[in-house]
Amino acid sequence: MSAAVEIAERVLRQGWVEGERDGTPYAYTRPSPTRYPWQWYWDSCFAAIAWRRFDPGRARTELESLLAAQREDGFIGHTIFWDRPVSLGRLPFYNVTSRHADQTGTIQPPLLAWAWSIAVGDPAAEPRIAAQAEWLAANRDLEGDGLLWIVQPDESGLDASPKFDPVWGRRANGRIGFPCLVRRNRRLGFDARRIDARGGPLLCETLVNTLWSLSLQALGRPSATPALVERLWDERRGLFLDQVRPGGARPSTVTWAALAPLALPDLPERIGRRLVEEHLLSRNEFLTAVAPPSVSASEPSYEPDGGRGPIRRYWRGPTWVNSAWLVWLGMRRLGYEEEANRLAAGVIGAVEREGLREYYDPRTGTGLGAKDFAWSALVAELAEPAYL
Ligand code: GLC
Repeated sequence: MSAAVEIAERVLRQGWVEGERDGTPYAYTRPSPTRYPWQWYWDSCFAAIAWRRFDPGRARTELESLLAAQREDGFIGHTIFWDRPVSLGRLPFYNVTSRHADQTGTIQPPLLAWAWSIAVGDPAAEPRIAAQAEWLAANRDLEGDGLLWIVQPDESGLDASPKFDPVWGRRANGRIGFPCLVRRNRRLGFDARRIDARGGPLLCETLVNTLWSLSLQALGRPSATPALVERLWDERRGLFLDQVRPGGARPSTVTWAALAPLALPDLPERIGRRLVEEHLLSRNEFLTAVAPPSVSASEPSYEPDGGRGPIRRYWRGPTWVNSAWLVWLGMRRLGYEEEANRLAAGVIGAVEREGLREYYDPRTGTGLGAKDFAWSALVAELAEPAYL
């Protein structure tokens, strides 16, 4: 086992918690043992993918805990508060409908079905996974073309990405007005149609829809990739840009999410090659020592050291391991073997020097953010690929 894989296993084991709430057993990996105590939806999906090589039973249990939290209507929240509700101090920033809520009223990128297909088996055989897909389609596919809309930036998992600044302005994550957005959406029950009726904004976001398309395909349903290309592909710039509702604006800040569709096996090859050759392998944009940075190095908002100041603003420059793995999948599929190996080597080197951190400085690999961060265990997929 390589050193990076050993580190991955140690961190996953250390973050594992088990318990019971009102007779419902749960078990999952804390995203970081000190900073993030609860179960986060997409963190668990990535953790399960990493777990399966060390302990397939835990991979399944991790995802079953998400299903155990599912509401009767199929909804699964962004964060599940298994052991205790959200504290008063965090309440203004958490998307809960009440202080006693057992989970948030918002979603995270819906990759459960895809993660299940990698880590456990056929998701179509688990009706609760289909039920979540039904909820998403019924409540978030606002224009009937199969793509989902989000009501807050953090539903994308990319909380304070600068691509959300033109959409939510001072109400974006990590900005002074974010609690106002939470308060308003809480009043509207985080219901996309009610938020839409009040003038939005809502966003058809690239990463969410990439992972949604992977999940639909894992379920054996029609892929959302053609709709994603139709709506979000920008032929002139050669990348994917989100769309805002109302008004249809396409904010143009270039972040790694613009390249995330590389993970889609059914992405037209011509588009995949443009993403790789014009952006991922461009030194001015995403080709850094530890790549891909979460924001293109050519953007004025690029903050490779994660920024300073009292408020943490995520996804504004540093490199995250899940992003590296998702674009690496596409590079491999399209035959950019050497370049993919180089990208993997950058991330593996950073992990071996710094441990599993939440994110890394793309220039130096210096570890930043939370320590012992669980989904960075995806480095095992880069070091000893088991899913291609
Ligand atoms: C941060 C990240 C989000 C993640 C959460 C828990 O909020 O931006 O993507 O799910 O931490 O790790």
